[in-house]
Amino acid sequence: MSTAYGKDRLREVKAKHFEAVRVSEHVYWVGAIDWGIRNFHGYTTSRGTTYNAFLILADKVTLIDTVKAPFLDELLGRIRSVIDPEKIDYVVSNHSEMDHTGCLPEVLAMVKPEHVFASEMGVKAIGRHFHELDGIEAVENGGSLSLGNLSLRFWETRMLHWPDSIIGYLVKDKLLFSQDGFGMHLASSERFADEIEPSILKQETAKYYANILLPYSTLVTRLLATVKELGIDIKVLAPDHGPVWRKGFDILGWYAGWAEQKPTMKAVVAFDTMWHSTELMARAISQGLVEGGATVKVMPLGSSDRSDVVTELLDAGGLLVGSPTLNNNMLPTVADLLCYIRGLKPQNLVGQAFGSYGWSGESVNQLVKEMEKMKMELVDEPVKVNYVPDEAALLRCRALGRQVAEKIAEELR
Ligand code: FEO
Repeated sequence: MSTAYGKDRLREVKAKHFEAVRVSEHVYWVGAIDWGIRNFHGYTTSRGTTYNAFLILADKVTLIDTVKAPFLDELLGRIRSVIDPEKIDYVVSNHSEMDHTGCLPEVLAMVKPEHVFASEMGVKAIGRHFHELDGIEAVENGGSLSLGNLSLRFWETRMLHWPDSIIGYLVKDKLLFSQDGFGMHLASSERFADEIEPSILKQETAKYYANILLPYSTLVTRLLATVKELGIDIKVLAPDHGPVWRKGFDILGWYAGWAEQKPTMKAVVAFDTMWHSTELMARAISQGLVEGGATVKVMPLGSSDRSDVVTELLDAGGLLVGSPTLNNNMLPTVADLLCYIRGLKPQNLVGQAFGSYGWSGESVNQLVKEMEKMKMELVDEPVKVNYVPDEAALLRCRALGRQVAEKIAEELR
């Protein structure tokens, strides 16, 4: 039986159809494009993503990060379009999450590099992910690694967004490998941000910030200040997801703004409904919010994704959450949303709970408790309606909307 199309041969054939993209004088993008992913650990990635890896053609050829395990062929194909992978001398892991280390063991087995580097925490994390993988060396925070003719510097960015995270700076090319920071989940054939529609860039960057980095906003502010203090001149910004930035760098200003978590006159009304009573309440509340001067995003959870709700909250000053009672509880869709929001720790939100019920009516009190755990400032009292709202109940909802809008305006003064 012929073995011409055995595993190795098949990998070689597939790999021929991927090309690297040069992003600076010495650096090539050799990552993978995941057009199909729609769920990235609970974050709905509506436009897919990329797993970016970079090859530095220095005296010591260096690979920065790898890709998610199923994309090994794509990584190797792109590397091979520039250089024989066995010529790689160093491998650097900036972040041990498996979208960047998934195929690290296979790459190391194939390439057999002289050295493999990660942060001190990264060495531990990679060891605990892959168990038999040892010999990884720790780089120092603020330290340099000589690649012969080029120099690579590293800084730890702990909890941006894992304890192991580091960023690297290729001094000669003024290129910052920013790992997950300044990334976005966006699959595209274009490799550079300046080739992509600006509104899509901003929307996907906001979604990424809200769904991943929001709880670490103070660290983002500190990182931006550190970059400034160190005088790091960035000519190319190369994150681990989405396009590479080579001009404009709007993303730095967007991050600085979002990290401040300043609210605007905007409120999100998120709810689910059984027989449209809670929905009627949501509509009346929304009318009141508009009358109070707020911009409103009404997000019925039967058709709104938790990732999109959180994205809308990024610049919101208000949040109103509604649920009917089902079997002594709030609806599971609403519980899911609140669990997700609480983990992302949005700040400076005012709002209130609302909902309908038939007999026991626990949902609204449960919503209030969850909103208090989120340290939200609750305005007046929640609105609870037995079965179907009457005129008085809807007027009360409308008034609540106005009160929340007025409270947001007061906070902004
Ligand atoms: Fe892209 Fe935290 O991994």
